[in-house]
Amino acid sequence: MSREPRTVRPVANQRIDLVGTRVGLREFTRDDLDGVYRIVGDERVTSHLAFDARTRDEAGSMLDEIMERARAEPRSEYHLAVTAKGESTSDEVVGFVRLGLTGVRAAKLGYAVAADHHGRGYATDTVRTVLGLAFGPLQRHRVSAAVGPDNAASRAVVQRTGFTREGVLRDHVFTNGAWRDSVLYSLLVDEWNARRG
Ligand SMILES: CC(C)(COP(=O)(O)OP(=O)(O)OC[C@H]1O[C@@H](n2cnc3c(N)ncnc32)[C@H](O)[C@@H]1OP(=O)(O)O)[C@@H](O)C(=O)NCCC(=O)NCCS
Repeated sequence: MSREPRTVRPVANQRIDLVGTRVGLREFTRDDLDGVYRIVGDERVTSHLAFDARTRDEAGSMLDEIMERARAEPRSEYHLAVTAKGESTSDEVVGFVRLGLTGVRAAKLGYAVAADHHGRGYATDTVRTVLGLAFGPLQRHRVSAAVGPDNAASRAVVQRTGFTREGVLRDHVFTNGAWRDSVLYSLLVDEWNARRG
């Protein structure tokens, strides 16, 4: 029988600062409002997310709430800013990634990249980098991602990073004025370790 730790205290009070191949992942600050609004205020991005496009004020409130949850102890959410390493404005937010700790050593994954930066491999590198946090210091056993059935770009990201399709969550989110299914994908720690050789 496998012996699993009963309680896990993941990186308490630690500010996250991670470097991938193409992106950096760091904590949000209030200075990130412009970057956040470029993402969550843009219907090209939010049409694939579980919420509708936000106004600038709403984006500010969202940012405040993210920063407040980042200070919670114990911390149950890692909602991080994605920056692009190779670009001249390399500390500017070009995306976000969210790991919500849940269940029995599980986490839910979400992410988005600003529309002007799509197709540069940022989401793929973001997911690979944050999985290192999830399966490393945060000791997750399972990470799941719920992807809209028509979201081919996001499907490409989870498939390339090793996730397995599990099934369909019916009427999973209410967005753009209608209920929408999601396709659920998951990755387990052993699969992650096997891919890393
Ligand atoms: C999904 C998303 C994060 C991908 O970001 P990205 O930085 O462009 O992703 P990457 O560049 O790492 O990879 C995207 C892949 O999808 C492919 N792709 C893009 N659009 C596609 C489409 N319509 N059909 C098929 N594949 C597509 C790209 O070609 C790329 O694959 P490649 O590198 O083999 O060419 C971005 O499109 C986005 O923010 N979408 C809106 C929000 C969202 O959907 N979030 C995820 C919710 S589950």
